[in-house]
Amino acid sequence: MITVSKDKTFSLTNRYFSYVFRVSPEGILEHLHYGGVLSDPLNVTAHHLRTQREVSSHFQGSQYFNLSDTPQEFPCFGTSDYRFPALHGRNSDGNTVFTLYYKSHDIVKDKPALKGLPSARGGDSETLIIKLEDPLHKLGVELHYTIYEDYGVLARSAKFQNNGEKNIQLQHAFSSSLDLPQNDYEILHLHGTWSREFNEERIDVPKGRFVIDSSRGTSSAAHNPFIAIMDKGTTEDVGRVYATTLVYSGNFALSVERGEFEDVRLLAGINPFNFHWRLKPGQSFQTPEALHVYAQRGLRSMSHLWHDFIRDRVSPTRFRHVPRSSYLNTWEAAYFDIDEDKVLDLADTAKSIGAQMLVLDDGWFEGRKDDTSSLGDWIADKDRFPSGIPSLASKVKAKGLKFGIWFEPEMVNPKSILYEKHPDWALHVPGRKPSLGRNQLTLDLTRDDVIDYLFEQIDDILSCGDIDYVKWDMNRNMTEVGSAGISNNRQREVSHRYILGLYKLLSRLTQKYPDIVFENCASGGNRFDLGMLSFMPQGWISDMCDPVGRMDIINGASYLYPLDVTAAYIGPSPNHQNGRVSSVQTRFMAGVFCAARGVSLSTADIEAHKDEIRHWVSLANATSADMVGGTFDRLVKNQNEVCWQYTTRDKSTIYVVYFHILSAPNLPFRRAHLVGLDPQSKYILQENGEAYQGDALMGSGMPMPYVATGQVRDDVRYMDKGDFSSHLFVFEKK
Ligand code: GLA
Repeated sequence: MITVSKDKTFSLTNRYFSYVFRVSPEGILEHLHYGGVLSDPLNVTAHHLRTQREVSSHFQGSQYFNLSDTPQEFPCFGTSDYRFPALHGRNSDGNTVFTLYYKSHDIVKDKPALKGLPSARGGDSETLIIKLEDPLHKLGVELHYTIYEDYGVLARSAKFQNNGEKNIQLQHAFSSSLDLPQNDYEILHLHGTWSREFNEERIDVPKGRFVIDSSRGTSSAAHNPFIAIMDKGTTEDVGRVYATTLVYSGNFALSVERGEFEDVRLLAGINPFNFHWRLKPGQSFQTPEALHVYAQRGLRSMSHLWHDFIRDRVSPTRFRHVPRSSYLNTWEAAYFDIDEDKVLDLADTAKSIGAQMLVLDDGWFEGRKDDTSSLGDWIADKDRFPSGIPSLASKVKAKGLKFGIWFEPEMVNPKSILYEKHPDWALHVPGRKPSLGRNQLTLDLTRDDVIDYLFEQIDDILSCGDIDYVKWDMNRNMTEVGSAGISNNRQREVSHRYILGLYKLLSRLTQKYPDIVFENCASGGNRFDLGMLSFMPQGWISDMCDPVGRMDIINGASYLYPLDVTAAYIGPSPNHQNGRVSSVQTRFMAGVFCAARGVSLSTADIEAHKDEIRHWVSLANATSADMVGGTFDRLVKNQNEVCWQYTTRDKSTIYVVYFHILSAPNLPFRRAHLVGLDPQSKYILQENGEAYQGDALMGSGMPMPYVATGQVRDDVRYMDKGDFSSHLFVFEKK
């Protein structure tokens, strides 16, 4: 996989891609190729020409070489490259000029873990470690490149090391830089906000710089940390795609720059805005990991590469291919109007519809009757939960259900015992009134005393042994990001140190409780990223449970995330977020391919539709093993229709769900072209026993149900008349 020539050309090649760069005669790392597999990668010719350019500055007196048109592996600023650099900082002379020269390299089997940060697991992999150094200021940079035998993902990270005798201030410390050759590219990225996460936007790569980033303290719903640069006009099946994400949950940036010579630079890593890191002599700084995918055949192939890798190498191994329990969550069933008796009632209701777990959401801890108080005080409310959580958990379990519970550990309400005792434990800056979000402040996770307190409080409850699931919530963006425990000249390190503290706490808890399913939530998808998903096997992707809203969210998220890491439930109708009325069926169908499926409805709402809900919960139970480890495909997505396919891991069952959003008469006849079937096999449609040939389902397509207008005929499949209808096809391979 990793080969090196005598003149120091490096190739990382597997059956998915080749990635090639070399040490240039000047000692700089020059990028040569990323893309299709090359049979002789060490002999690839540079597309970059060494020729005179007017106006350009020539690198250190060399006549035909300037860095502003040279594709590089880890560019700096100040020595002839004017583009946004991967490394930028202030040295002890007070200027910001650095040049990184190749020093040495090493190839190691497998993949070293990153200190203090989650990263993709190794196995059947090799890592190329390149050491670079600025000889003047003795700033060392170690670049890691990991390639796998069986995955189309390249993992990259950088480690900065101050080998000199004076302080260095890092300002840009990107994880990776990728210089792509000139081409007519488009960008795909996923943007949104609360309850409207994961909207896709496609734009031409503009001249100049296009950035998605976060300065909110979480990766955030505004921009998921994902970007794809692709051939213009790329479809699900055609077009080359370069996609990138980060294993990081804080302030990130993905910056795309189309320079004066049309080449495109992608930088991935910590957001340089409002970031500084002081590196004393002997100290090092580890960046988060950036993951890159090159896909040759469109967005479908890109998603398949991501899904396989995330499932196998990022998501916790313990839950790989493990079916998830169906559940009843108390949130939209009762909100804060919850007590022990209600939980036990809801547990009976859960049982009566066939759900396998009861999840006690917000509202169970001391004084928490609404969202104005008590975050931070993780002890059961004495009046409403007099026998305590361990006893409640065991009562629920005695009914034959699993038990799950909600925490929002990173937060504190000013109205809480914790805040009264330790006002300094919240992030704040001196002399300023803090801006609240949902009436709460963020705890200072840069502090070990805060981490220890949270660990003990949560451990106290989890140690009862009857908790099967934890929903880990986080419901505000950060402001006044300052720490009382950190010196003035390190305050711009606080955001990153917070994330390191969070990862420390999560490691401790998930290591102590490896069998608990942790679910990542941040008002839904405000921190849905591979950093969190390294610790937690699934995430609550959005608070939007209206099926039309949810469909868009799942469709967008599926570009990167396998649905194995998502949860969904049947929420109330009219929907509490957007007021839409929809059928139980379509509410279920929007999340039908998510690994964890449940219900969040009051007992009265459930009673009103009991048989139907029982039917869908029993389908969730019957298909739970299918919904992990399979293949998800987007077949159709337009303003009024969505169609997805899900193929089980053994390829024996094919599920196709079709949504028709707004009803209209006299519509065109629609078909969906299935993908990935065996052309020679027959597939039997469960609902009527009809046999379809694999090649016909793919090549000619499957007719979608039709909205009846006139007379209804027996041999035509109809949708329910009316808005927001859905249909699930199940094919068994013969
Ligand atoms: C957030 C979550 C919800 C619910 C509430 C509880 O909004 O996204 O699912 O848990 O908090 O306060």
